Amino acid sequence: MVTLEEIDEIVSKMTLEEKARIVVGVGIPGMFGNPRSRVPGAAGETHPIERFGIPSTVFADGPAGLRINPKREGDEKTYHATAFPVATMLASTWNREILEEVGRCMGEEVKEYGVDILLAPAMNIHRNPLCGRNFEYYSEDPFLTGEMAAAFVKGIQSKGVGACLKHFAANNQETNRTNIDTIVSERALKEIYLKGFEIAIKKSKPWAIMSAYNKLNGKYCSQNEWLLTKVLREDWRFDGFVMTDWFAGDNPVEQMKAGNDMIMPGKVHQINRKRRDEIEEIITAVKEGKLDEKILDRNVKNILKVLVNSPSFNKYNYSNIPDLNIHAKVAYEAGAEGVVLLKNNKVLPINKDTRIALFGTGQIETIKGGTGSGDTHPRYVVSILEGMKERNLKVDEELASTYSKYVSEMRKKEYKEKKEMFGESNLTSRLPQDFLNEDEIEKIAKRNDLAVVVISRISGEGYDREPKKGDFYLSDDESSLLKKVSQIFHKYERKVVVILNIGSPIEVTSWRDLVDSILLAWQAGQETGRIVADVIVGKINPSGKLPTTFPRDYSEIPSWNFPGEPKDNPQKVTYDEGIYVGYRYYDTFGVEPAYEFGFGLSYTTFEYKNLEVKLVNEKVKISLEVLNTGEFPGKEVVQVYIRAPKAKIDKPFQELKEFYKTRLLNPNEKEKVEIEIDLKALASYNGEVWLVEKGEYEVRVGSSSRDIRLINRFIVDDEKWRYTS
Ligand code: BGC
Repeated sequence: MVTLEEIDEIVSKMTLEEKARIVVGVGIPGMFGNPRSRVPGAAGETHPIERFGIPSTVFADGPAGLRINPKREGDEKTYHATAFPVATMLASTWNREILEEVGRCMGEEVKEYGVDILLAPAMNIHRNPLCGRNFEYYSEDPFLTGEMAAAFVKGIQSKGVGACLKHFAANNQETNRTNIDTIVSERALKEIYLKGFEIAIKKSKPWAIMSAYNKLNGKYCSQNEWLLTKVLREDWRFDGFVMTDWFAGDNPVEQMKAGNDMIMPGKVHQINRKRRDEIEEIITAVKEGKLDEKILDRNVKNILKVLVNSPSFNKYNYSNIPDLNIHAKVAYEAGAEGVVLLKNNKVLPINKDTRIALFGTGQIETIKGGTGSGDTHPRYVVSILEGMKERNLKVDEELASTYSKYVSEMRKKEYKEKKEMFGESNLTSRLPQDFLNEDEIEKIAKRNDLAVVVISRISGEGYDREPKKGDFYLSDDESSLLKKVSQIFHKYERKVVVILNIGSPIEVTSWRDLVDSILLAWQAGQETGRIVADVIVGKINPSGKLPTTFPRDYSEIPSWNFPGEPKDNPQKVTYDEGIYVGYRYYDTFGVEPAYEFGFGLSYTTFEYKNLEVKLVNEKVKISLEVLNTGEFPGKEVVQVYIRAPKAKIDKPFQELKEFYKTRLLNPNEKEKVEIEIDLKALASYNGEVWLVEKGEYEVRVGSSSRDIRLINRFIVDDEKWRYTS
């Protein structure tokens, strides 16, 4: 163990250049003439300072699994990592233990592949369903986000490696992400956009935070002293270190002053045709008296305090063989709990002998996750078709082979060049879906019992999705396929199931009546096909709940001005909706969503009973019973929303303040649920202080934000509950 005194001593002996090298990364490994990383595919590395025994440390992405290259030049061995479900799906589990377990597995891969810090979790709020990176983020709700992130960080860090919360803060879109100026009120920041970070920092003590690309109320996040020093360090007492997002901001000296300890990827780089050497700029600024060396010392110490605990510092002898088999099981379990059953008209689960006609190219090109730094390189991805076959479901072979041929011919024809250049996983364009005519579908319907139609979407870093057909809406060819299948299968009294293999909401209202069941499988990572097959036959009883609202139509969302103005090249985005994000908006302003926050069906039913609520000291104590009243074993997510009294501060209709996922309950089995909420968590920010206003509070307990089963109340009779942070 290196003590704080020893760190002080080392820093006092460092030259200015050595200090500047600590606060600036080595550059993108393998690019701009930089040496390759010792872990190829890692996103960044720090400088070693040999004379003090400081080694280089390695940072790698990302939220759905460790992102490193699976193969290395001149090396026979492989370096695959597990592809876990995307973060939105992990949040759909509402299960802290699962998140912690996923974190532990990823932490082991980080450690055994020689990496020190995982650049995850990503925890920006789903402000708009079209943000291209929503799949990497958990939820529209800050409490769920913070709780999921805290559990995940605990898991990662239990392995002796670090987690890095990103992107701090209000980075809720990809359009012009490196320069957009996000204009948002202090209240919305504190209650919505910063809240998840605050919860995760206080509960799980992450090693690092990544400041975001965007500007926040006029200043780049990485150069924003209010954000990085006042809020993060003074109010929340964060004691890890802050790194920039890759190439973020425009002034290394301002970054140092604001409390952004490390600049990544750093060193000499060429961006926007400007050549920068941040090390030189920092040294010059100190020499010219423009940067106080004490600030540099502070930042160096913040970094070293953390990195002395890293595996590299402690010369950990990594194996390069993490237990990918065990991690595959955890990826499966996490996905199994994150599937959300949106509609079920007495179809699912099916009998194993049901003859299934599987439609949609997504059965073959199943999307495991999104693109960009949130991508992963697993050993395999089980497609939906493969999963069904592996589980011995009776899939129509002829139709499956028609699809296989169609996909391979289309890809060969259209993407030969692209595939050679970028590889298989980058074939993201959508193939036309409507290539079977009515007669063919008629024959298929006659020889099968059920139609299953897969609809897929992919998105990723660097671009947002669009409110148009083929993206937020079904394309004409998808609609046409769905209409034909629905009409013909129903004519023969066969049912139709849709599997949504997507990373973020799409429009469902215009077509959901055509089908009997909708299963939201999200992008479930490498085990997607197995998970889908097991849900369909009831080996898994869905227990996932939506962490984000499915709006009826894009025109009904609150963040109407996304992605900012001017429309053709947005420079500024104003969060006019304030705190009314997601269900806080839909519930308060009476707008009916397609599927509400917290929604998800099960193959069984649950009854809620005996709600008791007491305010004891500063704690709201809640107890109730949940009983499985149906015929399948299942888990339920008990959600606690609080409705605050009408008082001085404007409040949303209700807010999620706790949740609890039951154990697997057998039919007729019940579980007693005991929940405690700190009164402080009910405070609203009035621009100066956090305040719990007096009056009657409604405790609303239910199975979704709009399926409230029990209500009880408690009274706060004075206004003494004020908090500064
Ligand atoms: C992304 C980060 C990522 C970093 C390193 C950036 O472009 O925004 O999320 O961690 O690259 O790959």
